[in-house]
Amino acid sequence: MKHTNLFANHSVTFATLLLLGSWLVTCQPAPRSVAMQTTNSATPRKVGIVASQGMVSSAHPLATAVGVEILKQGGNATDAAIATFFALAVVYPRAGNIGGGGFAVCRQANGESTALDFREKAPQKASRDMYLDDKGNAQNHLSLAGHLAVGVPASVEGMVALHKKQGKLAWATLLAPAVELAAKGFALTQHEAKYLNQYSEEIIANNPKSIPQHLVKAEGWKEGDWVVHKDLAKTLRLIQEKGRAGFYEGETAALILKEIQRGKGILSQQDLDNYQAIWRTPLIGNYKKYKVITMPPPSSGGIILLQLFRATENYPLRKWGHNTAKTMHVMVEMERRVYADRSVYMGDPDFYKVPQTMLLNKNYIKSRMANINLTQKTPSQQIREGKVEQIESFETTHLSVVDKDRNAVAITTTLNGNYGCKVMVEGAGFFLNNEMDDFSIKVGVPNQFGLVGGEANAIAPNKRMLSSMTPTILADENNKLFMVVGTPGGSTIITSVYQTILNVIEHQMTMQEAVDAKKFHHQWLPDEVILEEKSFSEQLQKQLAAYGHTISYAPTLGRMDCVLVLPNGTLEGGADYTRGDNRAIGY
Ligand code: GLY
Repeated sequence: MKHTNLFANHSVTFATLLLLGSWLVTCQPAPRSVAMQTTNSATPRKVGIVASQGMVSSAHPLATAVGVEILKQGGNATDAAIATFFALAVVYPRAGNIGGGGFAVCRQANGESTALDFREKAPQKASRDMYLDDKGNAQNHLSLAGHLAVGVPASVEGMVALHKKQGKLAWATLLAPAVELAAKGFALTQHEAKYLNQYSEEIIANNPKSIPQHLVKAEGWKEGDWVVHKDLAKTLRLIQEKGRAGFYEGETAALILKEIQRGKGILSQQDLDNYQAIWRTPLIGNYKKYKVITMPPPSSGGIILLQLFRATENYPLRKWGHNTAKTMHVMVEMERRVYADRSVYMGDPDFYKVPQTMLLNKNYIKSRMANINLTQKTPSQQIREGKVEQIESFETTHLSVVDKDRNAVAITTTLNGNYGCKVMVEGAGFFLNNEMDDFSIKVGVPNQFGLVGGEANAIAPNKRMLSSMTPTILADENNKLFMVVGTPGGSTIITSVYQTILNVIEHQMTMQEAVDAKKFHHQWLPDEVILEEKSFSEQLQKQLAAYGHTISYAPTLGRMDCVLVLPNGTLEGGADYTRGDNRAIGY
């Protein structure tokens, strides 16, 4: 059989990779960035991994290593991204997935760009008020956990579509490393052990007693524990052999539907049959001399990012300095205004006419920002009313790839919450998403990210829920690739992408410094500036309070995976190995 041969051909390489991977995870400390003297700075700079040929940056060292191996075998950026994607579904199951969905933004070496929407959809049997009780009260727990929270899984269809249009190597080759990781196992990182322990109660509550051994361990998981995903290996092999049909039809589809019926969910075979990824026209705007290529609706990320960049051009942020109170104040004021737009004007463009041209119109943005007071905050209630709630969960994941020809792929993918709806498809070994919570389940009722919404993002059968995922690629004034950026973080994705790009362009940071830099966030409601805790001085916080800002804290913000093309044409990978296990590897 063709795929078996390919698998055999590569088995030595991937076996080596597995060994390397377990060593990477268990024995090796996070890579130390290179401290380099740069021409325009007297102090040594922290530079990420630098390589001349290709670079992969993702949330897990094993997945990154898989992508680099594919590049070395002659795969292009799309091939490496697909292989990394499936590897993340094994080694990073709380966000990497085959049961969720996402977006890809790609830029070919010739400057052509594409955007793939493989966002989940509401099932055919979904209805606008499905999460309201008979008194009309929102039942958020139902959109967050369990079988009713599941949107139509979209990731496999997305990867198939990506491969069909842009892939070079055989599909089976791209799946082989993920199959092998699942079948032979890998060592848990400290972070992943911690998260499995933290979520074990919820996982047990939402799954049958026969819960697979690799999910719960009575004495708790620890770093270095070896896990084998037997059922997932079988499912991945079916996808490897049959492509789309290996997931949406036959044994896997039957297991999904059996699982959904066990929990009285509404997903049907018709939903699986009908799901299609959509190639959309990427949003392209400018920030100064850079071209910004990003994701259109049903992501809100691209519109908000371009609105922010348009507004930012009016302020001398470089002169004001990085993370000074003055810079942060004006960024927060811009953020609160564009997130207010999000709640009203953004949703699935196939169901709701998103006024994209108006939202990105220079005069509109100018008028929206006209009442920014440089010495005092504008309370969000004066911009628009709504209820407030604390942001809770941030799980999504991003990968950035650049190949030797300078093709680039940015993919952000998600199950929504950690381990999605916490339900694993029995016998198939993967978690299902809880993406239905990204809809506005009732006007004015915040979702898990504290985001509120209305008609534009109301539930309807077959509609895609609004997202904040913002995979983004920048080109320079010579139309050469400049940067590939993205992160998890729910509603905070957009502001982390925004800050990371500004950190490089305005504050002249290296890619690694831009990733490491402390982040902040404002999303209109709740009306508070969220700071990474223990990261901003008392003095700065007092200065922000003097502008009228209410401050709250998040343990971390952003977990970026990025690639920057350096002036000499080499690549700098920036991966967040302090906030997560993220790793950039180049060759
Ligand atoms: N599930 C998070 C997002 O799509 O924004």
